[in-house]
Amino acid sequence: MRKIFVAGNWKMNMTKAEAAALVDGLAKTLGSSLPVEVAVCPPFVYLDTVADHIKGTAMKLGAQNCYFETKGAFTGEVSPQMLLDVGCTFVIIGHSERRHTIGKGECDGMINKKVHAALKAGLKPILAIGEKLEQRDGNQMEAILTQQLKDGLAGLTAEQMATITVAYEPVWAIGTGRNATPQQAQDAHVHIRKVLAEMFGQAVAANTTIQYGGSMNAANAAELMAQKDVDGGLIGGASLKIDDFTKIVQAAVKAKGL
Ligand code: PGA
Repeated sequence: MRKIFVAGNWKMNMTKAEAAALVDGLAKTLGSSLPVEVAVCPPFVYLDTVADHIKGTAMKLGAQNCYFETKGAFTGEVSPQMLLDVGCTFVIIGHSERRHTIGKGECDGMINKKVHAALKAGLKPILAIGEKLEQRDGNQMEAILTQQLKDGLAGLTAEQMATITVAYEPVWAIGTGRNATPQQAQDAHVHIRKVLAEMFGQAVAANTTIQYGGSMNAANAAELMAQKDVDGGLIGGASLKIDDFTKIVQAAVKAKGL
């Protein structure tokens, strides 16, 4: 059975004290063992602090990005090895804000290099993919997802793919308060699994965890998680509040009968 996985993407939010208080609070509400995987992804500068605070809890640590080189003259970048060194298990790669909002944007080629580098270092990548509104309106959703998967996961073995999580995050739903309907999420996830089956075989596709992300919150998590191919969530805004994130994790546990 594939793993159900809820991750909080804190983006560029929180102070150090708030970051510590958030995970301390979550440690209490979530308890020390969970039937689903839960990770928090703070900004780089708080990884170390958060790593200390989540020791002995059910939470794992993830980063929001990494570079594809091990070390060297890459001002401002952070290597996968550094992330491992401070206790990360996961790294989000290809988030839509990195693809479309920041600087000139990351292309699929760079994202693919990052996926390979993260795997080589021993991190588990969460590959984020998703179409823009005009692409959905132009009936290109499936084509975009296919291309982002083919390019982002190029050159991986089936064995490597077994450690990767895919996050379906329609760009029009991120931070907008407008989530995909449960059926839209399910349809996109079925398509993603179909492409993964073509690339890596049926067994790998069936075992790949596909998170939904985009305005998932305490109110809509239950119906999204109830979809057969929605295996968890990548949560932005709602991951910054103890109560909301806890409810989303609980909704995942309940929806999957765990
Ligand atoms: P959101 O962000 O939940 O605030 O829409 C999700 C994400 O970008 O991962």
